[in-house]
Amino acid sequence: MTDAASLTRLIQSRAGAEPVKLGLILGSGLGHLAETVSGVAIDYADLPGFPHAGVSGHYPKLVIGDLEGVRVAVFGGRAHYYESGDPAVMRLPLEVLSGLGAEALIATNAAGSLRPDIRPGDVMLLSDHINFSGLNPLIGEPTDRRFVPMTDAHDPRLRTRLKAAAEAEGIALPEGVYAWYSGPSFETPAEIRAIRILGADAVGMSTVPEIILARFLGLNAAAISTITNMAAGLSDEKISHEHTKAMAPLGAAKLERLIRKMLRDLD
Ligand code: HPA
Repeated sequence: MTDAASLTRLIQSRAGAEPVKLGLILGSGLGHLAETVSGVAIDYADLPGFPHAGVSGHYPKLVIGDLEGVRVAVFGGRAHYYESGDPAVMRLPLEVLSGLGAEALIATNAAGSLRPDIRPGDVMLLSDHINFSGLNPLIGEPTDRRFVPMTDAHDPRLRTRLKAAAEAEGIALPEGVYAWYSGPSFETPAEIRAIRILGADAVGMSTVPEIILARFLGLNAAAISTITNMAAGLSDEKISHEHTKAMAPLGAAKLERLIRKMLRDLD
C-alpha cells in the first residue's frame, strides 16, 4: 500500500479528514516546530512507502494538527537525494500532502551563505533557486504535466506574507537565490566561487526537488533557509554536519516565530 490515495486515507483515519491548509517541511535541526503542533504525530515508519528520513538532526514524523489556528501537516524531516540517489524521493509525501487538501508548501532547510551580509544564525527567504545538480524529480514522469513552468515557483504572494510576518516580528529576512548541490560531501571553495558567479546567495542539499514537485502537484511554494555557516572558503570555520546541527537552532527560533506569525495572519 504505497499509493498516495491509500496513504492519505490511512492518515485521515488517524488524524481526521478535515483538509489541511498548508504543509511544512522542516530541515536539519529545525524539527522542534513539529513537536509544538497540537495534533496527531505519525512515525514515517508507520507510513508504508514513506522514505526514512535517515539524517541525524531530523524528526521523522508527520504531524497533523493545529498551529496558530491553521490546520497544517508538518514533515518533521525530509529525505534527501543523496541518501538514495532518487531525486523523486519526496514525491509520495508531497502527493499525500496534496491529497490531504493542502494549497501550499513551505520548505525549510539549513544552508551555507555566500553573502557577507547574510551570516550564521540569519534566515533567508528564497526568491528563486538554481538547480545546480542538474537532477530533476520529474525525470521519467510520462505525462505532459512534467513540463512544469518554474517562473514564480517561489510564490510571490506567500513571500509577501512571509516578509510581512518577518517585519512585524522584527526579524531581518533578506531574499536570495538558493543553489541545490547534490551533497552529501560539502562543496569545494572553487565550486562556491563558481555558483557565486552564477548568482547564488546560499547553498544547500535539499529543497529544490520539493519545490519542483510542489509546483507539479499544483501547490504554491516558498522556502526559507536558516544559515548555519559561511559556504566553503568564505570563512575559517570548519564546515561539518555536526556544525550544521549545532548552528541550526540559532536560526530555528526566528524561523518558528516567522512561521507562527504568518499563520496567525492567514485569512
Ligand atoms: N553547503 C551545503 N549544504 C549545507 C551547508 C553548506 O555549506 N550548510 C548547511 N547545509
